[in-house]
Amino acid sequence: MSAKIISGTETAKAIKEELKKEVAALADKVVPGLVTILVGEDPASQSYVAAKNKTAHALGIHSEQKTLDAETSEEDLLALVEKYNNDEKIHGILVQLPLPKHIDEAKVLNAINPDKDVDGFHPVNVGRMVLGEQCFLPCTPHGVLELLARSGVETSGAEVVVVGRSNIVGKPVANLMLQKREAGNATVTLCHTRTKDMDFHTKRADILIVAAGVANMIKADQVKEGVVVIDVGVNRIGVTESGKAKLAGDVEFESVKEKAAAITPVPGGVGPMTITMLMKNTVQSAKQFAGLA
Ligand code: GUN
Repeated sequence: MSAKIISGTETAKAIKEELKKEVAALADKVVPGLVTILVGEDPASQSYVAAKNKTAHALGIHSEQKTLDAETSEEDLLALVEKYNNDEKIHGILVQLPLPKHIDEAKVLNAINPDKDVDGFHPVNVGRMVLGEQCFLPCTPHGVLELLARSGVETSGAEVVVVGRSNIVGKPVANLMLQKREAGNATVTLCHTRTKDMDFHTKRADILIVAAGVANMIKADQVKEGVVVIDVGVNRIGVTESGKAKLAGDVEFESVKEKAAAITPVPGGVGPMTITMLMKNTVQSAKQFAGLA
């Protein structure tokens, strides 16, 4: 059996079409505005931020890109965040992570107005998310849930195993999937670097979500027949002939797809969904600021 390929590119395209229409319909009331702030020159971060701005532009969202050099002080970054907190054209502020070591990430995320925190990383939004209240959901976990829902994967009562406990993906996706909500109601196990017997858990997963940041970490002998695999990993493992970054997921795609019922590819899986959910949050924020939501 070869798995059904869950295309994030296709699903994201459908959602972007919906958003484009929504942005056009809002035009005489509010133009959604997003600012992305990148500190330093990490190539992966540069390409993510460029993709976010390009997508915003394509949907009719006003987007500004601020690139600061790696030596920027914490104080200057906090001042910039505050400037955008008070900028009426901007409804979403995204500070690309990771930040250089001399900057306190938590302090910066805390400084973003929670009403403009389209990444869903501010403690107020994290708290609301855990409580199941209305908030901006973090983009990658939200993208994973949308992908499962729109692919018709039954999550209610399913054994979901998440590998990786980051604040950006592992912790929030595990939390969302146990909630009483669409693409939720699952029994969730969260594995991490100190998990004693990883294979015991991955082998009993009905849905396996891997966000460990280790290229090709999960092999076919670690999953059961018929599993649904969501691969969140984006690992740069070299360069292609055309000079582009060669990417691999956290799951060994070629072997695992022979055993899985469905699997997301890398690239073209979760990645496009993350960006699309950011756009959705930005449009939502603009509607809230305009008193339309
Ligand atoms: N770095 C990796 N993923 C993300 C994300 O979703 N948002 C931000 N701000 N930084 C990231």
